[in-house]
Amino acid sequence: MRGPRRWAYVAMRRSLEPVLNGVLSALGDARFNLDVEVQNRKVARLYGMAKRDQWNLDDLRERFFPPNHDGIESVEALNDWLGVSDEVRVAAAKCFSSFYYGEHGARMVSAQLTNMMPTNEAAKFMATQVMDEARHVEVFEGILGFIDRVHPMNPFLSAFMSDISRTKRTADKLVGMNLLVEGLALSSFRMILKNLKSGLNVSERGYRAIGEPIEQIVRDESRHVGFGVITLPDQLGALSRSEKAQLRVRQLVWLALLYGSVKFHQRDQEIMGLDYLELLMDVIDDHEHRVHECGGDALVTTERMKSLIPTMDRLVDRFLKAEAR
Ligand SMILES: [Fe+2]
Ligand SMILES: [Fe+2]
Repeated sequence: MRGPRRWAYVAMRRSLEPVLNGVLSALGDARFNLDVEVQNRKVARLYGMAKRDQWNLDDLRERFFPPNHDGIESVEALNDWLGVSDEVRVAAAKCFSSFYYGEHGARMVSAQLTNMMPTNEAAKFMATQVMDEARHVEVFEGILGFIDRVHPMNPFLSAFMSDISRTKRTADKLVGMNLLVEGLALSSFRMILKNLKSGLNVSERGYRAIGEPIEQIVRDESRHVGFGVITLPDQLGALSRSEKAQLRVRQLVWLALLYGSVKFHQRDQEIMGLDYLELLMDVIDDHEHRVHECGGDALVTTERMKSLIPTMDRLVDRFLKAEAR
């Protein structure tokens, strides 16, 4: 190619180059450029622990849930096997169904957070949390399949988890997921474990089918809360005053939904000998403790949260009565 044709070709190539660069940078907006240098050693250490402590339900399935129901052929025989009454078994299945849906929600939100993390080690840790939550879903599938079935989803929990999954800001999503939801899970699981042993006096094999799998989950959830407490100070510190104000309002809405999620099972909890207000106080106290650890002024105080309890109690009661009609 010579003369004017060559010049025209070169000019055309030059004019296409910026277009091509523009197209490539628009299409290639994924986060592949995270620094390989560790930014936060505590997060890197937590990632190491998460890898070390992975476990497979299949290795424990026969210990937890005897194959073929261990020859249990009727509901009465199952109650006997577990060492509980029929009423307690069904109430537990209704509460555990909320745990099951909560774990599904946690799996979805932690998958979103994996793509929002600002550092390589935080993104890798979050990927382990996604796997943990998938395993927790599997555990509750196992427990519920063994003791009863999956019951329909609690509407407050559905709204709570859906709103956290809709939230766009990383700090807000972390507060909702790794402080509030994980905090609720930890307090609920600990209360259930204590109750299985001392309140309900379930049989040894009944505890093996329900208590032991939950004990395994508690270890994972403690790691998830720890991640929130380690990473939130930087996230919260980067928020503007108006973003902090928005986060406070959002927490109040989430607290109301968390309250409704727990109170929705008031009757089931009473049958199991649990006090839903004690559980809520436990969640709120732990939340405040963690907030202090994060050094954040973007979070709601326990005092403020507790002052809202009577109003929320009335609202949830009204909703549940309307639902029952
Ligand atoms: Fe979980
Ligand atoms: Fe979790």
